[in-house]
Parts: sequence; structure tokens; C-alpha cells
Amino acid sequence: MGSLTQQLTVLVARSFEACGLDPKFGEVVVSQRPELGQFQCNGALPAARIARKSPRDVAQAVVDALSERAWFADVSLAGPGFVNLTLTDEALAAFLRQTASDERLGCDPADEPEVVLIDFGGPNVAKAMHVGHLRSSIIGDCLQRLFRFAGHRVVSDVHLGDWGTQMGMLICEMRRRRPDLPYFDAGFAGPYPAEPPVTIDDLEQMYPAVSARCKEDDVEADAARQATVDLQEGRPGYRALWQHFVDVSLAGLRRDFGRLGVTFDLWLGESHAHSRIAALIERLKAQGFAARSEGAWIVPLGAGEGEGKELPPLLLVKSDGAVLYGTTDLATLEERVQDVGARRVLYVVDQRQALHFQQVFRAARLTGVAGETALEHIAFGTVNGPDGKPFKTRTGGVMRLQDLIGLAVEQVARRMEEAGVAQGYSEEERRDIAHKVGLAAVKFADLSNHRLSNYIFDLDKFTRFEGKTGPYLQYAAVRIQSILRKAEERGLAPGELLAPSATAERDLMLRMGQLPDAVGAALAERAPNFLCEHLYELSQAWSRFYQQCHILSEPDEARRDSWLALAALCLRQIQLVLHLLGIEVPERM
Ligand code: ARG
Repeated sequence: MGSLTQQLTVLVARSFEACGLDPKFGEVVVSQRPELGQFQCNGALPAARIARKSPRDVAQAVVDALSERAWFADVSLAGPGFVNLTLTDEALAAFLRQTASDERLGCDPADEPEVVLIDFGGPNVAKAMHVGHLRSSIIGDCLQRLFRFAGHRVVSDVHLGDWGTQMGMLICEMRRRRPDLPYFDAGFAGPYPAEPPVTIDDLEQMYPAVSARCKEDDVEADAARQATVDLQEGRPGYRALWQHFVDVSLAGLRRDFGRLGVTFDLWLGESHAHSRIAALIERLKAQGFAARSEGAWIVPLGAGEGEGKELPPLLLVKSDGAVLYGTTDLATLEERVQDVGARRVLYVVDQRQALHFQQVFRAARLTGVAGETALEHIAFGTVNGPDGKPFKTRTGGVMRLQDLIGLAVEQVARRMEEAGVAQGYSEEERRDIAHKVGLAAVKFADLSNHRLSNYIFDLDKFTRFEGKTGPYLQYAAVRIQSILRKAEERGLAPGELLAPSATAERDLMLRMGQLPDAVGAALAERAPNFLCEHLYELSQAWSRFYQQCHILSEPDEARRDSWLALAALCLRQIQLVLHLLGIEVPERM
């Protein structure tokens, strides 16, 4: 059914057509100047230029040809040829009644559903997740919810970093610590121990230690590179050890993502592409796409015809025989296209990897790996500290995702205490609420910025219960829930939605009519901030309405029940958008 502006656009476009003009000029938008009308159409100006007529005459003709005049309380011309439209209160209420009867709240599903693979999260084995992974996870999860809601078949993949040099480093570090383990004995015939030789804490401690040593010591670095090659070539002891590293990391990651409320359909890693890599490289060599350069194999990506700017070659195989990040990305894409059947792949990854994705995408086009599948790098900016530099811990280290969420939850718990929220609830429920609200604070703050902008991580601001914050919006939902509950306790139920009787009520209804626009914009731009914007405006409109219209003490019963219906519909909208944002609403607060 669409939004108010979408429905009005259909009507006005028809009117343009009836006047012999291109219907594309019939686009209706929410008015910039509400005193002149609720909606406006500015298409008469460009249409008149093409038709070589006066814009005012064209606008007048369009107005005269407008059907469904009964919908409008006012249709007028302004300025050089703007058309202003105002709905009757009855038409507005009828629209909302229609919305209420639609389980999708007026948001139409995609015309052509696609199989969309979304690659996000992207944590690395043995490295704790940091704020960059947080952004990828939050934005990626919102996009998977949005695309699913739009009717696409979404397949999400965590694409674990498990095949690069860091794996060779860890193997060397393990050997340094425990040379006695059978994984390093080339003559060992197995079976290898089933128990992992490390915990997640060991791993997180091993990686920075060995990585620092490799930076300083060429011999160590060479050993790590050699171990990486041996691992990739299948040395049994290394594979067995590596599998332990992966399993231990994955267990921790599943727990972390679980706490974040983020899910994946596939938990594959870079290594998963291994089995296709040899054949892929053979093909690229045979077809002349791969070239030899200083002992390595590369895919030259020079500016071919219409290819755009020159790019450095994609490194396929290093001179020591190891494959790289780009190689696994190319082979993984081949599988996504051929076996998963993806028609579109979204990579939700830090803006700083833009060049990498330009290279992978161009190589994939050039070599036919991508086929007809659309490839998009959904880039995002950095999370900064108060000093404007990438966010760090107080001691200058990388802020781990788990710690960061812990901080948010603690801060929220303090605020709840101060504000007297959730008082008298059990300790367990209070903790659950603080967790949900802490996550909402972090997620909403992230999503409400356009993904490409950098933002400053300011927990104090994010966790406030007023203003444009996650907690404020959850609170708005909880308050409406509680009004509806109170009504129910008194035996009241939502009734027929009537034409608005007050300005704040009309404004709320008009705002609700914009939901499909917000969902559409978020989808089109792969930008969740449009949802956040709508949600915030909606809850503001709700507050003004609720201040003016005292639902439960309203003496006119039909009016009261209509307001209850409006409250219920508003709640459904808030719940839907919060759900799309990946934010849970507590039962009560
Ligand atoms: N593991 C990578 C990182 O931490 C992100 C992976 C992104 N996805 C991809 N297909 N390259 O930077």
C-alpha cells in the first residue's frame, strides 16, 4: 500500500499523464512549509520547461485533472507553480485504518526478491573484537533485518579471518611455548589430542606477543610466514592445531554475538575457500588473467576500457606460495555466486578497506568470478574517542567489544538507579533491563549516524533517557505498552480509528504515514540512520500528542477508544523499527 506520499504520488502522476506530461514529474513530498499544505509537488516546473509552457498553467492543469478530490481539504498553487495538498482528516484516518489492517504496516515488499549475501562482522581468530567489528556487526545486522523484511532471501556470513599470516604466527608461538606437543612432530602418526591446548584467554594473549616479536625479528617473521604456507598446504599437525584455534575462537565469538543479539546463517571463514583456490588460480593462469611478478602471481587490474581509474594489481600468491586476503575473497565470492546463488553481495567493512574491495570487485568482474552478481562495499567510518582519534582504552590499547558493552551496561545501571527506573524489580530483572538498554544505547548511537560519518564514542550521551538515544526510544515504547496495559486492566480496548480532533493528533498521524518512506530510504541507501530519524520524530510526535490528549481520562468513549487504537498502532511502528535496528524492548522499565 505504501506511504502517504507514495499513494499521493500515484494520484498526481496520473494527473500529469492526463495532461499529456511525463508522470515521473508527479512526485509528492512532505511539505517544507506546513502552513501552506501538508504535501507538495514541485514537478510542474521541470515539466513546463520541457513542454515549453508556463509552469503556473501546467500546475493549474494538473490540479484541475486531479481525481479523488474528496481526499483533499485543500489543493492550491503557490509561487511559480508549486502544488500544495492537504488531506481531509477523514482521508488521513482512512489511510491509517488501512495501515493498521496491514501486517507490514504499509511497507510493500520488494518487487523482485533477490538472494542477497551479506558479509559482516568479520572478526579474526585469536584477536578480540574491537569497535570496528562492532560497527560492522551492528550495521550488518540491521541490513540483514531490513533486506529480510523487504522480502529478499538473505544469507549472512561472518567471514572469520582464519587463513592469514596471523595463523602462522600463532602456530610458531605455540611451538615456542610447548615444543613438546605432537602438532610439531612431523613424524607423529596421530590421532592428535581432542582437547584444545589453549583457552580463548591464552589465544588473545599469544597473538599480540608474537605479532610484536615478528615486527622486530626477521627470523621470527620468516618462521611465521613459513608456518602459514605449511598450514595452507595441509601439514597435518598444523591443521589439527589450527582447528583448535578456530574452535576456541568460534566458541567465544558465538557467545559474544549472542549477547549482542546478532545472528549469522553461515559461520564460515577465509579458510573455507581453500578447496577452490588451486583450481581458481589454475584457471586464471590458463586464461591469462594471472601474471608472474617477482616470483609472485598477480592479477593486473590496469585501467581497461571503461574500467575507471588504474588500480594496483591484486596479489594472488606470494613468492613463498602463501595465498592472501584478496585470494580468499575472490575464491569465497566464486562459491557465493556459484553455490549459494547470490545475486548481490554486500560487504559491510570499514571504509579504510575501500581499495581492497575495489581490487577484488574489479578482479572478479574481469575474470568472470562475479558473473552477473552485484557487488557492493558498504563502507563505514571510524568510532573516535573524545580526542577525535580512533577509540582506544585509557591505556591506549584497542577497546574490546565485550568491555565496551560492559561499560555501557554499567553506565545504564547507574542511570537507572539515579532516575529511579525499575525500582522494586528483582535484581535479575534489573540486570536484564540494564543489558537491553545498554545495548540499545550503543546500537542506536551507531546507527543514527550516517554509516560513512565518523562519530565520537560518548557513553554519557548515548545512555541518556532523554534526547535522540536508544534508551529514550525504548522508554517511549515501554510507556505506550504500559498505557495499553492499564487500559486493558480497566476493560478498555482500542476502537475504530477516528478522524483527528487535535493538532498534535493529526501531526502524529501524518508522521506515521511516513514509515514506508523511511524504510525505503534506509534500504535504497543501505543506511539505517533513516530509520533512526523516523523513530525519533515519531516518538516526539507521540509525546506531544500524549501531552495534549489524555487518553485514559477522556470522557468521550469513542474518542478514547480511537486514541487507544492510535497508541496501539504507534507502538507497532516503534516496535517494528526497533526490531529492524536490532533493539529489544523490555516488558517494563
Ligand atoms: N577480517 C577482516 C578484518 O578484521 C574483515 C573481513 C571482511 N570481509 C571480507 N570478505 N573481506 O579486517
